[in-house]
Amino acid sequence: MTKFRRSHNYRIGQLAKKTRLPVSTINYYINTGLIKPAEKTPSGYRLFDEKSAKTISMIKELQAEYLPLKVIKERMKARWPKHTMETDTLQLSIKGFEPITFRFPSTRYQGSKLKLVEWIWWNVGHLEFDTVLDAFGGTGAVSYLFKTKGKQVTYNDILKSNYYIGLSLIENTQEILTQEDLESLLKKQPDIKYPTFIQDTFHNIYFTDEENAWLDMVVKNIELLGNPYKRALAYFALFQACIIKRPYNLFHRKNLYIRNAHVKRSFGNKITWDTPFPVHFVRFVEEANESVFSNDEKNRALNCDVFDLDENYDLVYIDTPYISSKGIGVDYIEFYHFLEGVVDYENWGKMIDYTRKHKSLKHKKDVWTDKNKIHDAFDRLFDKFKKSILVVSYRSDGIPSDSELMTILKKHKKDVIELNKRDYKYVLSTNSSKELLFVAP
Ligand SMILES: C[S@@+](CC[C@H](N)C(=O)[O-])C[C@H]1O[C@@H](n2cnc3c(N)ncnc32)[C@H](O)[C@@H]1O
Repeated sequence: MTKFRRSHNYRIGQLAKKTRLPVSTINYYINTGLIKPAEKTPSGYRLFDEKSAKTISMIKELQAEYLPLKVIKERMKARWPKHTMETDTLQLSIKGFEPITFRFPSTRYQGSKLKLVEWIWWNVGHLEFDTVLDAFGGTGAVSYLFKTKGKQVTYNDILKSNYYIGLSLIENTQEILTQEDLESLLKKQPDIKYPTFIQDTFHNIYFTDEENAWLDMVVKNIELLGNPYKRALAYFALFQACIIKRPYNLFHRKNLYIRNAHVKRSFGNKITWDTPFPVHFVRFVEEANESVFSNDEKNRALNCDVFDLDENYDLVYIDTPYISSKGIGVDYIEFYHFLEGVVDYENWGKMIDYTRKHKSLKHKKDVWTDKNKIHDAFDRLFDKFKKSILVVSYRSDGIPSDSELMTILKKHKKDVIELNKRDYKYVLSTNSSKELLFVAP
């Protein structure tokens, strides 16, 4: 039973428990202005009243029809005209730094720098540059920062699934998914023969049979979308929904059983995993739609190995995969192979390594995950982009060490002006390490 506070107000965790929703969803409702805290305690906790709980049950009722929040907001206004709806923008704020108004979707992608964008801007905003390459783009959070600041941005990532993120949020200037698009994505179309590859191949591996059938349908429907940016937005929403429904938010192991096992686990996770795909999907479409904008520059998304890119950028931002002090590198294909399969659905079967229980993709070890090749790889990378301002995100506890990295950087750049540090705790990591930024003009 949920305990009531004396004032009959709930802290965010209690409201989540009462409404059986993850805290992240409640936060999302707050950011989109659907609910707002009734008060804040002197120590900064937000308190919510019964009205918020009621609003959430109304949202849930409407969500059963898989309506996007924008439509839900309209319907709620009609039902409840006096309901107060507030700000639409997410304010990222780190103590001591100027807040940036930033409308970027939430993400659980490994190594995302979303929470560090302000700090990055604080350290590079004063430099003179117009064009930027985000060479290891990932979620695109840093590209998006530079786009927000009016730069001409090139997003790049070796993963094709990530390239679609770059297309949808960085290159795209105006396309969004409409209510009609959503409706056609979420149901079977007449005269289409739906494939069953995910159902046939991934039984009992990542998602339930029912969820696999839904995925087969939606992936086909996404392929039917004519506009490439709409397709990219739909892939983006689907990836986020897939990631959020996975234990550890990854595909590195076949651990569907964790979702169903009777073990003690965090309440929020269980609710998130069991929330139906369409609910997550609609929410992420909504978040992505809200992030689309033009900065009047021609921004691009690329899908290349970093060594195949051209070199003509004023500033190059570098955020390579991390290799721990034990020599274990983050292998992004291994973590997200399922999403790589989704975007190459027709060829997926040929790409799988069937000797592995969790059916990941065949792939070679990359220099960025190999502790014996990593020093040379950084050397070649800095040499390649030595004419640009180099900005490198790094962690203090990796291979190479931060002092080794500084030595390599100094071979190619006369001045490495700053080495800034702050404490940062990564998802899945038990140690808190220092997040570093090397800036070499
Ligand atoms: C630490 S993550 C980047 C995170 C990103 N800055 C963000 O905020 O989301 C590293 C990224 O490098 C990509 N990557 C790995 N090897 C690459 C290569 N050879 N060329 C380009 N990108 C690569 C991975 O797919 C991964 O998305």
